[in-house]
Amino acid sequence: MLLEIKDLCIEFHDHDVPERVVNHVSFSLEEGEILGIVGESGSGKSMTAMAIAGLLKRHDLEKKGEIFFAGKELLHASRAELRNYQGNDISIIFQEPMTSLNPVKRIGWQVEESLRIHKPDMSKSERKRRAIEVLSDVELPNPEQIYRKYPHELSGGMRQRVMIASAMICEPKLLIADEPTTALDVTIQLQIVKLLQRLNKEKNMAVLFISHDLSLVKRLCSRIIVMHDGDVVEQGATQEIFDNPQESYTRELINAIPKLEKVL
Ligand SMILES: Nc1ncnc2c1ncn2[C@@H]1O[C@H](COP(=O)(O)OP(=O)(O)OP(=O)(O)O)[C@@H](O)[C@H]1O
Ligand SMILES: [Mg+2]
Repeated sequence: MLLEIKDLCIEFHDHDVPERVVNHVSFSLEEGEILGIVGESGSGKSMTAMAIAGLLKRHDLEKKGEIFFAGKELLHASRAELRNYQGNDISIIFQEPMTSLNPVKRIGWQVEESLRIHKPDMSKSERKRRAIEVLSDVELPNPEQIYRKYPHELSGGMRQRVMIASAMICEPKLLIADEPTTALDVTIQLQIVKLLQRLNKEKNMAVLFISHDLSLVKRLCSRIIVMHDGDVVEQGATQEIFDNPQESYTRELINAIPKLEKVL
């Protein structure tokens, strides 16, 4: 098992009354699998993703449960331990512009960041070679030219490909994609989903794909977790959930957004 979440609870303690935003969430992910998390805004998807990526280090957050990655418990690991994983075995990409690229740094420099951290002995020329390789892996045309460009010279879809390239440069075993296509138009969304699908197959990279777009999730994911108000209300094989949703909340979600269905 690549990833095992056991009884994850996350509570904010920044007000008088603690607010639980993730409530006894358990699920697992096999190596090379693509798992979807769906649910309306505020259901706890990003909090769950950030916990897995080791990005919840605020002192006013209480975290309970366990997150095992390749057998190692990460939820309660130290910052130093987590750094070995971040951008290396586990990468996360967000919707733009939340993690927008640094506007004053060239694409190449930004794509190489994880190599500088995790492979400090790699030579400058080898880093560049690898960066161009990974820019080409995400199907950017003229990767040598893109390497020298600044973020504002690229379209939104190209920038998201750059983010994926940065996330993949150390060949992670798990890519967490939190609403990676939400800021993009429908045809570009579909291209990014196809790209993730191809990279998953070729690199045997597991993907945790978070989205409120069920039609994208249906296309990409073999299994789905449905979250509502911090709870997992339903999980199972994608086809089964679509054919026979057990919960009324899931039925509502399925009925709500057949947005991409028309072009598939
Ligand atoms: N700093 C905070 N203090 C208190 N509550 C917070 C804080 N940040 C987030 N929350 C709450 O945590 C809950 C879960 O948020 P989360 O970002 O995980 O939702 P989400 O499912 O990713 O939603 P979306 O689809 O909008 O991205 C929300 O109710 C949100 O209001
Ligand atoms: Mg979110």
